[in-house]
Amino acid sequence: MIINSIKPHIIPDRLIYTRGDTSKIFSTKTGMQLGYIKTQKKLIADNDFYPNYQGADSLYIKYLEVFAFVRRQGVGSELIKFAKNLSRKMGAEGRLHCIAWNFEHPGNPPHKFYRVNGFTTTDPNVNESIDFAIKHDIPIHPKLTQGTPMYLKNFWTK
Ligand SMILES: CC(C)(COP(=O)(O)OP(=O)(O)OC[C@H]1O[C@@H](n2cnc3c(N)ncnc32)[C@H](O)[C@@H]1OP(=O)(O)O)[C@@H](O)C(=O)NCCC(=O)NCCS
Repeated sequence: MIINSIKPHIIPDRLIYTRGDTSKIFSTKTGMQLGYIKTQKKLIADNDFYPNYQGADSLYIKYLEVFAFVRRQGVGSELIKFAKNLSRKMGAEGRLHCIAWNFEHPGNPPHKFYRVNGFTTTDPNVNESIDFAIKHDIPIHPKLTQGTPMYLKNFWTK
């Protein structure tokens, strides 16, 4: 038996496990769950999302949550990347859409997070307002906090 020829495998820091519409992300170091994303393939039939792709499929992000103890460590972005691949696998070409809204703290919405991850809205003024808030590190305008339709712009890129 030549044990020396066995190559070590590199285990990623995080693993995602999908069951039904829910994909949960775990730390392989601690075994703890870090968050989850719930998605559903939907036909785009609403000009708030992908105005040039009406009638096409897109993966709708029903819920996305990263648990508070592990926020701002790239977990949410990893779930978005995962969802983009899932969208491809499900025949939606990488399209993703959502209503940006924080069910926990409506005053602290995820617009900046989605924008940084390549999401847009159909309204240039709204995009500008979010970009301004990112640039100047100020809160999102209160009128957007009740929910903003957003979708992944360059969904065809790797
Ligand atoms: C929104 C949420 C999913 C982000 O998850 P996360 O793992 O913390 O996000 P990431 O670490 O991948 O963030 C990537 C980038 O997005 C931006 N970002 C994320 N959260 C932000 C915040 N609260 N304020 C400003 N920018 C933020 C930052 O640019 C960040 O990069 P940086 O940390 O290097 O500055 C998480 O805060 C959350 O679960 N919030 C409560 C539930 C919620 O609002 N869900 C969305 C429902 S539509």
